[in-house]
Amino acid sequence: MNIDVFTLFPDWFRWFGEQRHVRNAIERGLELDHVDMRATSPLDGGRVDDTPYGGGAGMVIRVDVVEAALEARYGAQRDHRIVALAAGGRRFDERLALELAAEPRLSLLCGRYEGFDERVHTELATDVVSIGPYVLSGGELAAMVVCDAVIRKLPGALGHADSAVEESFSEALEGAPEYPHYTRPVDWRGHGVPDVLVSGDHARIREWRLEQARSRAKG
Ligand SMILES: C[S@@+](CC[C@H](N)C(=O)[O-])C[C@H]1O[C@@H](n2cnc3c(N)ncnc32)[C@H](O)[C@@H]1O
Repeated sequence: MNIDVFTLFPDWFRWFGEQRHVRNAIERGLELDHVDMRATSPLDGGRVDDTPYGGGAGMVIRVDVVEAALEARYGAQRDHRIVALAAGGRRFDERLALELAAEPRLSLLCGRYEGFDERVHTELATDVVSIGPYVLSGGELAAMVVCDAVIRKLPGALGHADSAVEESFSEALEGAPEYPHYTRPVDWRGHGVPDVLVSGDHARIREWRLEQARSRAKG
C-alpha cells in the first residue's frame, strides 16, 4: 500500500514514520510519504490560502494549490481514494479503516486555517472524513489517526497478527467493543480477577469474553 499525506507541516510526519508498528509496515512494503503542498504552489512565495468570499475570519486553502500538489504527485489522471480531512465529513470508524486498508493507494489531504475551498471536497477528493465532532487546528493529527488505524490492519504491522483480528469493533467480536483484560497481580488491593479467566477452561473464557463484549455494546 502507498499512503501520501498532503500537508503544510510535513515535519509532523517524521516522528510518526519512526514509530515501531509504522516501521514494521514500511519494512513489509508500505510506502508512507508526506507531500508539502507549499512546494508546488502556483502562487508567489509558496502562498497557499486566500480570504473567503463573502467575508469572515480566517483564510481558506485554495483549490488550485491542492490541484497543483496532486498533479505534481500523480499527473492529471487520478483513480485512487483521495480523502480530505474535515470536521464535518463522514465519521471515521472501523469499517472505513478496513475499507481504506484494502486500497492499493491512498492520499490524505490535511487542511489548516478555515479549511479547504469547498471545491477541494467536491471536485478533487473522493471522500471527506472527520475523526470526530470537534475542531482540530489542522488535519495532521486526523491524518495520523486514519493512518494508524489503517496501518494496523496491514499484514505484519503488529507484533502479534492476532491482535488486529479480535479487537474492539472487529467481526470476531460482532462489532462490539473489546472485553476487559487483566494481568498479574491476581489480587490488587482487594480487587480480584474474574474466576473464569484463571480457570483454564478456554471454551468458558471465550464465552465469557463474548458476553462481556456484547454487554459493553449495549452500554
Ligand atoms: C481549524 S480546522 C477548520 C475548521 C472549520 N472552519 C470548521 O469549522 O469545521 C483546520 C483543518 O483541520 C482539520 N480538522 C479539524 N477538525 C477535524 C476533525 N474533527 N476531523 C478531521 N479533520 C479535522 C481539517 O483538515 C480542517 O481543514
